[in-house]
Amino acid sequence: MNLSLSKNSRLTYTYLSMIIISAMFLLSVVLNNILLNNGKGRKMTLFEEKTHSIYFLEQCNCPSDRIKYEIIPKSRKRLLTYKHRLAVLVPYRERFEELLEFAPFMCKFLNNQKINYDIYILNQVDHYRFNRASLINVGFLQIQADYDYIAMHDVDLLPLNSNLTYHYPEQPHHLAAPNLHPRYNYEKFIGGILLINRYHFQMVNGLSNRYWGWGLEDDEFYVRLKDAHLNISRPQNINTGRHDTFRHIHGRERKRDTVKCDNQREITRKRDRQTGLHDVKYTVNSSKELEIDGALVTVINIHLHCNHTATPWCDCSNKKPETEKTKKIKGK
Ligand SMILES: *[C@@H]1O[C@H](CO)[C@@H](O)[C@H](O)[C@H]1NC(C)=O
Ligand SMILES: *[C@@H]1O[C@H](CO)[C@@H](O)[C@H](O)[C@H]1NC(C)=O
Ligand SMILES: *[C@@H]1O[C@H](CO)[C@@H](O)[C@H](O)[C@H]1NC(C)=O
Ligand SMILES: *[C@@H]1O[C@H](CO)[C@@H](O)[C@H](O)[C@H]1NC(C)=O
Repeated sequence: MNLSLSKNSRLTYTYLSMIIISAMFLLSVVLNNILLNNGKGRKMTLFEEKTHSIYFLEQCNCPSDRIKYEIIPKSRKRLLTYKHRLAVLVPYRERFEELLEFAPFMCKFLNNQKINYDIYILNQVDHYRFNRASLINVGFLQIQADYDYIAMHDVDLLPLNSNLTYHYPEQPHHLAAPNLHPRYNYEKFIGGILLINRYHFQMVNGLSNRYWGWGLEDDEFYVRLKDAHLNISRPQNINTGRHDTFRHIHGRERKRDTVKCDNQREITRKRDRQTGLHDVKYTVNSSKELEIDGALVTVINIHLHCNHTATPWCDCSNKKPETEKTKKIKGK
């Protein structure tokens, strides 16, 4: 009897140690996985994803030690008390150096003001000419359910004066005012940085989709706001001037796409009562979270569609450009 008891307990002991050993093995596997998936483990995802043709990363010589491409867990998103939500909409194409400065700078600036915001990089991936206005329309359509105001924001303009407020605008609020912008000083200028709430943006049907190439889309938007009897406010209490209110980081010598072809010049000088938010044609090819020096932005890769009958100037290659007034056509 004694013998069988001790046999039994020896058996139990063997089972117990087997269970303990396998539990330790499992634990080490789990721990190992957790450690690998943190920190450096993420970088592998970056390169794996890169091979799945992320256009954004392929456009540049990315300093991969500074950026991370990953899905950010919801828990890491900010939870602030400010009741309004701002979507910073940044039209974008091949400006990676500027984005590297823009993202961390803006996050710091907006955090200081306790704004509840997210930054969206609206990356145009089609081969048409740059269309800032349509990109903003698309960005708005993508985010409108979650935010009640937007900032239409150039990637190369950084606010330096902390009195420039990004709080909810009751009326469209033009931050890059003509007396403050380093470059543009005409009274009706509303480009650079403009805050507008969701209701007003919808009310004026967003921006015109006819502006392929550089310029004038903001002037047309000015007329939309005026026609809707909206008052545009501008910053108050700014003691800085044209050279120290913003930093203009227009990197290197970048040529602006000022070419005009077909009847572009004629059409884009008129108020557009047809196109806008409701009829912008596009495909969102993908959308990714990107972290730059700890600053989170969402990159939306947007393929714009062009109606070649309505706006043939979305592609001026293989066409004879109108040369009058397009000054800098040296060489080439
Ligand atoms: C704009 O300002 C004018 C004059 O101050 C005012 O009468 C009008 O109500 C304002 N418009 C809106 C939409 O607030
Ligand atoms: C910001 O506004 C305050 C209050 O009006 C003013 O005293 C201060 O000089 C302003 N600062 C700058 C840098 O403009
Ligand atoms: C994006 O999607 C459109 C429509 O499906 C497609 O024609 C285009 O080739 C895609 N763009 C890229 C860069 O893959
Ligand atoms: C393209 O634009 C033309 C002229 O404005 C219009 O008649 C036509 O319906 C448009 N096509 C599409 C597919 O939207």
